Amino acid sequence: MSPTQTTRLPVDLGELRCLSPIHGGFGGGRGRPIDRDYIESFLARHAADVQGRVLKVAASDYTHRFGGNRVHAAPLLHVDPAHPGATWTADLADDAALPTSHFDAFICTQTLRYIFDLPRAVATVHRILEPGGVLLLTVPGISQINPYDRARWGEHWRFTPQSVQRLLGGTFGEGAAEVLAHFNVLADIGFLHELACEDLDVAELDHTDDRYPMLITARVQKSAD
Ligand SMILES: C[S@@+](CC[C@H](N)C(=O)[O-])C[C@H]1O[C@@H](n2cnc3c(N)ncnc32)[C@H](O)[C@@H]1O
Repeated sequence: MSPTQTTRLPVDLGELRCLSPIHGGFGGGRGRPIDRDYIESFLARHAADVQGRVLKVAASDYTHRFGGNRVHAAPLLHVDPAHPGATWTADLADDAALPTSHFDAFICTQTLRYIFDLPRAVATVHRILEPGGVLLLTVPGISQINPYDRARWGEHWRFTPQSVQRLLGGTFGEGAAEVLAHFNVLADIGFLHELACEDLDVAELDHTDDRYPMLITARVQKSAD
């Protein structure tokens, strides 16, 4: 018997002992996707920033839901010219199509992962915000790849709180961003198996162990001068 076998404690992996995710569809259809719950509580916490002219990627659902009647315009950004309802068709990393100092807020959820040239994308985001405008950003840390998006725009990055702080600090100013990590090893395993919030307790979802960031959120404001 090898030394590792004598010291190994039994672990019952139960239903986790499978090579494909237990569910599928990122937890949608089973309940509330685990990462979405936190994306939405982050936006709810910063709802006061969702006001004026608010840019959002792909769909304006969050703009109206969190901004309500504080929102005067809800333009949409899409990289694909065929996307219905896009106000702006532009690649954030090649920013010629977007206006300067134009948006009061930019809700950028789960999108930077698809953009290879991150510093250029963040420079564009900074340029298009009004002075005093706010970026509400979410990016994945520990997460599976989405084949649909990978096939369309490429799935390039996963993040850490430090990389987000450094990425935003390079343009918005060092320490300007309020960056938070979310989740823990259990919630991460649930997410990788595409389970839903309803599969875990509130305490299990709320516990954050910063070694296991499934989701990273950041709020950063463009300097007013
Ligand atoms: C899965 S959606 C994510 C957006 C959505 N906001 C969300 O919360 O899930 C991926 C989006 O990334 C956008 N995208 C991909 N590459 C981009 C780029 N280089 N510049 C701007 N948007 C891009 C696409 O337009 C697409 O709508």
